[in-house]
Amino acid sequence: MSFHSPITSAPGLGMAPALTPAEFAAIAAIMQEQARIHLSETKMTLVYSRLGRRLRVRGLRDFTDYIKLVGSDPVEMNTMVEALTTNHTHFFREPHHFTHLEKDVLPILKDKARQDGVRIWSAGCSTGEEVHTIAMVLLGLDRNAARWALGGDVKLLATDISSEVVAGAASGHYAANLLEQIPAAYAKLWTQPAAEGFEIIPEVRAMVTARILNLFDRWPMRRRFDVIFCRNVMIYFDNEAKAELERRLVDQLEPGGFLYIGHSERLTDRMRSQMQPCGQTIYRKTGGAV
Ligand SMILES: C[S@@+](CC[C@H](N)C(=O)[O-])C[C@H]1O[C@@H](n2cnc3c(N)ncnc32)[C@H](O)[C@@H]1O
Repeated sequence: MSFHSPITSAPGLGMAPALTPAEFAAIAAIMQEQARIHLSETKMTLVYSRLGRRLRVRGLRDFTDYIKLVGSDPVEMNTMVEALTTNHTHFFREPHHFTHLEKDVLPILKDKARQDGVRIWSAGCSTGEEVHTIAMVLLGLDRNAARWALGGDVKLLATDISSEVVAGAASGHYAANLLEQIPAAYAKLWTQPAAEGFEIIPEVRAMVTARILNLFDRWPMRRRFDVIFCRNVMIYFDNEAKAELERRLVDQLEPGGFLYIGHSERLTDRMRSQMQPCGQTIYRKTGGAV
């Protein structure tokens, strides 16, 4: 298959209408405009199979009709953007980040909590495994010692463009098989059994606010953050969008604050003067002590 030929089949789709290169290009342009997500030609099969399902649900003849629908129906536009985002995540993903958070950042945050509170942001949170991992690492393995965060002014914000994953993050409810991703000692303290799986206990969930936010829209947060996790999100954007986002993330960090990015992501050289590398894909903003 080359980019110049239409796609006419994908597993599980049966006889779906073909996706032509022109239709793919139109869909890619919409994703670029709506979410700054760059869909390379290698994503043609993914688009075909994920949106082929939408064609069936909406009873449409072909992708051209679907593109027209998306142009006139904001709900379907959202559905399309959500269908084409990649939400892969897991608890304690890239564990060296959490080792750093625990050993190097936690003592700083405990001091800060006593002065004017702590704010942490999981930007591009998917279903919330990242933000709940951060919460568990802050709380640690001693319920009494966790009081600084549970009873204090410590707030975690989790945002994503997809309403479906944000609902998952807000619920803090997960399938049973995901429990094995959480070290047993953390799971024992901070999770509890729930219907068809487990949930993060309500006290911990109360530290987290989950909201829908397109990272390229205006950000409503007035306060700066002490720590931002924006991991495995920038990989989906083109260079211009990445540069814009990293500049805004750095602006939104307190001086002395920490930024964690994904394993295959790098900050551009332009950020060097403001962001000191302090570990693998970990940076600290210069000019303050958080
Ligand atoms: C691969 S997940 C990463 C989840 C988590 N940060 C991690 O590393 O495990 C990427 C997330 O970024 C979100 N995303 C993509 N484009 C976005 C945008 N323009 N604004 C906000 N979120 C976006 C997707 O919906 C998806 O949930």
